[in-house]
Amino acid sequence: MEVIKSQSKPVLEMENVLGMKGGDGESSYAKASSAQLNALQAVKPILEQAIYENMILMSDVGGIFRIADFGCGTGKNTLVVANTIVNAVKSSFEEHDMPEFEVYFIDLPSNDFNLLFRMLPPHRPEYSDVDTDGDNNPLARRSYIAAAVCGSHFRRLLPRKSLHFCHSSTSLHWLYQVPESVQQRSSPRVYVSGDCEESVGAAYLQQFDKDFTAFLKARAQEIVDGGCMFLSLPGRNEGTHIMEEQGPCGFVARQIECAFEELVNEGIVEKEKWESFKMPFFSPNSDEVESIVKKEGSFVVKFVKTLGGIRPYCMIDLKRGDVNMFG
Ligand SMILES: C[S@@+](CC[C@H](N)C(=O)[O-])C[C@H]1O[C@@H](n2cnc3c(N)ncnc32)[C@H](O)[C@@H]1O
Repeated sequence: MEVIKSQSKPVLEMENVLGMKGGDGESSYAKASSAQLNALQAVKPILEQAIYENMILMSDVGGIFRIADFGCGTGKNTLVVANTIVNAVKSSFEEHDMPEFEVYFIDLPSNDFNLLFRMLPPHRPEYSDVDTDGDNNPLARRSYIAAAVCGSHFRRLLPRKSLHFCHSSTSLHWLYQVPESVQQRSSPRVYVSGDCEESVGAAYLQQFDKDFTAFLKARAQEIVDGGCMFLSLPGRNEGTHIMEEQGPCGFVARQIECAFEELVNEGIVEKEKWESFKMPFFSPNSDEVESIVKKEGSFVVKFVKTLGGIRPYCMIDLKRGDVNMFG
């Protein structure tokens, strides 16, 4: 018997094409990620509080405390995250019980890990007289061993029961793929918008449900019993319907549509290309996130909060001077 591989249409694997711009030039992710830094700064007190309140569950870590940042990106933001978590955990341990720290920086293969590792400050686990503010400056020194792990966080990436603390910021809104039913849709809308059919919004929510569930299942195997996870992602306001308000993803999609419109008008991009292009992201609301975590069943939700007022991007480049496009 001969088995012939099916000739179905090749699927564009998002994890092989999605990538933030590397390097440290003006338009690189490392330089153009102030919106993500704003989000990190806004959640910092909540992250620290979550660590103080839950560390008691992990008093015995066997000498090594392991942290992973999923969708870590590159540049200062990544170092700020690692520093914040390590410092908060450290202050929860007595000096004589202080574990060593290991941080896994996790992202897709396209991430500029080289830049990240070049930016890593020297490893100095102990205090030094010369560098007293080192603990608060993520670029001065670090008190953790750094390791990079490449791969999609929708799959298992780390050994079973190896992680004590899992973090992710502005990454989980990226989907595994554009929902299949939307891929075939020809429209100048690159995402959900008020004038789309309701089925488009439903397909995005369903894809997010599937992807986030896969993320939770993978982490459930990697995190030790009693371990914690702290996730922040761009979301919609509480109680909102996906067809009414699309949150930060809707804001970004509208900028992309404006850019496409200009490129098509200038004859640089064909109209058909614009109309076949869709963005693989989704802003859920807190009810949607919470119900997926409950349905998956491996984790208990201790705290969910929707933060408003985080400026998404520098507004100077917005078309039509519309500063209220977000929210
Ligand atoms: C907007 S950046 C955020 C980076 C960083 N967390 C920060 O706060 O600046 C989103 C990151 O998520 C990563 N990402 C997207 N999908 C991913 C996936 N399936 N697995 C791992 N990383 C992913 C991207 O490569 C990118 O580096």
